[in-house]
Amino acid sequence: MALSIPVITIDGPSGSGKGTICQLLAKKLGYHLLDSGALYRLTAVAGMAQNVDLHDDVVTAEIARHLNVVFHPADSGVIAVLDGQDVTADIRKEAAGMGASVVAAHIPVRDALLERQRSFQQAPGLVADGRDMGTTVFPNAVVKVFLTASAEERAERRYKQLIGRGESANLRDLLDDIKARDTRDTERSASPLKPASDAELIDSTKMSIDDVLKAILLLVEKRIN
Ligand code: DC
Repeated sequence: MALSIPVITIDGPSGSGKGTICQLLAKKLGYHLLDSGALYRLTAVAGMAQNVDLHDDVVTAEIARHLNVVFHPADSGVIAVLDGQDVTADIRKEAAGMGASVVAAHIPVRDALLERQRSFQQAPGLVADGRDMGTTVFPNAVVKVFLTASAEERAERRYKQLIGRGESANLRDLLDDIKARDTRDTERSASPLKPASDAELIDSTKMSIDDVLKAILLLVEKRIN
């Protein structure tokens, strides 16, 4: 691993604001962005398109290993092109998120995606968004953040996001889904969602996006600049 190229890892549960914060941070610093969740979502979407049982760890790992995906940076994060098709909207759907949390629990799938994730460490630096960025994928990252928010606040944010996109949503169902996903992500044996021992914990429940960004930029200033 190229140790001199700085990596900032932002880990945390769904809806903690990681996605938005990582995009803003990467833009501000001129760094590359790794949306690692997109790789698990792509694996699930590709598996569903091939009518594969997502609980099958061997078959889904094969799919993960051979994902033919290209990411293009965009203002709204990244555009994902799978086998020549823009699947950006598909991988953001609830079904892709639920499928991703199933395939992400398979050790062979995680192993299959490891080197691909590390290859994003390119000059001048990388902002890595995920669950195990600071613990497993980039243990030598110079800045590690663990971003959380209460489950209720995260469900509320997701609700507003879906309604804003013109999709239908039910707050109670979203809260149940978030809690189910949290349980799966934190209790799985493969790379469970947990803060790295050297991560800075930030609870964004009562913070604005701008406040969170400022807090992280302070850490970056102290450790990188
Ligand atoms: O961040 P996200 O919602 O796009 O992640 C989708 C799923 O993938 C989620 O259930 C957690 C899982 N995931 C993971 O296990 N490890 C990562 N580094 C990123 C996501």
